[in-house]
Amino acid sequence: MAIERTFSIIKPDATARNLTGAVNAMIEKAGLRIVAQKRIRMSRAEAETFYAVHRERPFFGELVEFMISAPVVVQVLEGDNAVAKYREVMGATDPAKAEEGTIRKVHARSIGENTVHGSDAPETAVMEIAQFFSGNEIVG
Ligand code: CMP
Repeated sequence: MAIERTFSIIKPDATARNLTGAVNAMIEKAGLRIVAQKRIRMSRAEAETFYAVHRERPFFGELVEFMISAPVVVQVLEGDNAVAKYREVMGATDPAKAEEGTIRKVHARSIGENTVHGSDAPETAVMEIAQFFSGNEIVG
């Protein structure tokens, strides 16, 4: 299987509860490698651009406010089938529907404060990674 990359965000609810290491341990235990990582304060413009696909959704404003409310950790994860694998490790968007043992089942508080983001497809991953990382910041 081809080595693939996906984009991940450890969200404000997780950084606020000091869970960066706990989330990273779950990522690494699943066999994904963290090949780039930085803790940032997302700007309003960055959050609006990142979630532009959801601009018309009723929760868009709340989503942007949440993402800029505290630091986030943006990451590039690498591994076999990384996009699908990370979606499995995260669990369903709504933690109430997430499988046992997934990041969201263990740590998320609600559908909004759901601890992590992961790309939904390889093409999306390429765009999301490029929004936050230059090539020389990714060390595989
Ligand atoms: P994420 O994977 O980052 O992509 C879009 C985000 O929108 C999603 O995770 C949720 O955090 C958020 N989201 C989806 N549905 C709702 C909702 N009904 N209310 C608030 N936020 C939501």
